[in-house]
Amino acid sequence: MTSLRINGKQYELDVPDDMPLLWALRDVVGLTGTKFGCGMALCGACTVHLDGRPVRSCVTPVSAVGSANITTIEAIGQTPSGAKVQQAWLDLEVVQCGYCQPGQIMSAAALLAGNPNPGDADIDAAMAGNLCRCGTYPRIRAAIKRAARATSTAPGASS
Ligand code: FES
Ligand code: FES
Repeated sequence: MTSLRINGKQYELDVPDDMPLLWALRDVVGLTGTKFGCGMALCGACTVHLDGRPVRSCVTPVSAVGSANITTIEAIGQTPSGAKVQQAWLDLEVVQCGYCQPGQIMSAAALLAGNPNPGDADIDAAMAGNLCRCGTYPRIRAAIKRAARATSTAPGASS
């Protein structure tokens, strides 16, 4: 059995050690907000957080997660930076087809959690691994800057 803590809830999963975390999240736990794109750590669609750090869940075996807290797109809005990012995404209507967007939001939320006022170079570095076939990059950058300026309404947010 593999024990995973996902979005604050503990799961005991009867899955192989080498199962990608993405498979476990989507097919076993039923959290389908995290998307499968390339399966090779090239597109960022599958990004989740392990203890706040963005990782590609398609190439992360469940055995490598250990006791880390997994956060997925379903719960990122409960964090201060995630709430700001999601509101900015709505305000600026970032989404086009939407497929890449859970991963984009997870990377953006991790960026803001570690750097509340990122510049263009910081944004480029943090978001470089998240591809968007619809070309929403200019709106993503603008939304990250908007989120950085925003006052969060998330539970536990201090400002
Ligand atoms: S599906 Fe994981 S990086 Fe593309
Ligand atoms: S919004 Fe369509 S791939 Fe990014």
